[in-house]
Amino acid sequence: MQEHFSLKPYNTFGVEAQAKYFAEVSTLEELKEAILFAKNHSLPLLFLGGGSNILLTKDFDGIAIKLNLKGISEESINENEVLVTAKAGENWHELVMYCLQKNYGGLENLSLIPGNVGTSPMQNIGAYGTEIKDIFESCQVLDLQDLELKTFNLEQCRFGYRDSIFKQEGKGRYVILEVIFKLTQKDHHIKTEYGAIQSELKNMGIETPTIQDISKAVIHIRQSKLPDPKEIGNAGSFFKNPTIPLAQFEALKQKFENIQGYPNGNQVKVPAGWLIEQCGWKGKQIGNAASHKLQSLVIINATGSATGKEIFDFSTEIINSVKERFGIELEREVNII
Ligand code: EPU
Repeated sequence: MQEHFSLKPYNTFGVEAQAKYFAEVSTLEELKEAILFAKNHSLPLLFLGGGSNILLTKDFDGIAIKLNLKGISEESINENEVLVTAKAGENWHELVMYCLQKNYGGLENLSLIPGNVGTSPMQNIGAYGTEIKDIFESCQVLDLQDLELKTFNLEQCRFGYRDSIFKQEGKGRYVILEVIFKLTQKDHHIKTEYGAIQSELKNMGIETPTIQDISKAVIHIRQSKLPDPKEIGNAGSFFKNPTIPLAQFEALKQKFENIQGYPNGNQVKVPAGWLIEQCGWKGKQIGNAASHKLQSLVIINATGSATGKEIFDFSTEIINSVKERFGIELEREVNII
């Protein structure tokens, strides 16, 4: 346990914030010990995975616990399917690469997503036509109320777009310790519906892609428009893509004929990046915070010296201007601490 600890290296925005206490845990026993310390001293807890989906807006007056539980194992169910279990502290992309090397299919569209395995079910991470719910088997959690281990299956996780029970009723109650994925060993489901993947494969001259080719295409697309957090502080998409009623979308279409939308029943999902760009934010910088020049949905720590508060205030300005122009209220995807 360390005191007055800088969390700057532990959040991909790279903002400075101090934790009153900090502990890095590699086993369940160490984790329980840190939790009991917090309970005994009535201190709030903050669990850190890869730090790729949080914005620290102030110092944390409690215990920040970095989850370092490691290990990957697998169990073949039949000749087609395999269950792969990864501990919370495994790096997400390294897991994807491990599976591709073994020719296990299902994670390839989720290549290069920053962060760790343990936080992947929280917001049902998704990209390029796949969400983890598509290959999720179950996860094991520690319940902070009784310090018992529990298992959540697919249905119990109640996954939605960037959503799960862990962001709703279960918020702050469970620590995810490991996740089990059900992957294919052959007859892989190749997912190329996402337009950008098709054009990337065409550029690569590939007609019948393997799962490894899909991964390469996704990596190219991400690298071409998303900033690498190791170089420029960011947490990926800062906002969710909003869903609005069809009637509201049609009224907007009258006024803004280029507005894009993906209908789903009587709702339409609208790309937040487009709304933000239309309001003139793409590439715009205020102080040390900016909207990325190639993807306006990504807010960056442009100078490396931004404070969390500055990034938060910048995001509020974006919300206000999108609301004023389109009547749509953007919701932050990143967890604000
Ligand atoms: N767009 C603009 N201007 C912009 C950005 C986007 O007009 O500045 C338009 C694009 O032209 C495109 C549409 O918005 O027609 C969608 O853009 P894109 O394909 O880049 O995807 P996104 O909706 O902005 C979502 C996820 C990403 C994920 C990609 C690919 C959310 C909040 N974000 O972004 O996830 O990688 O799709 O599947 O759903 C993340 O969550 O951190 C993340 C990066």
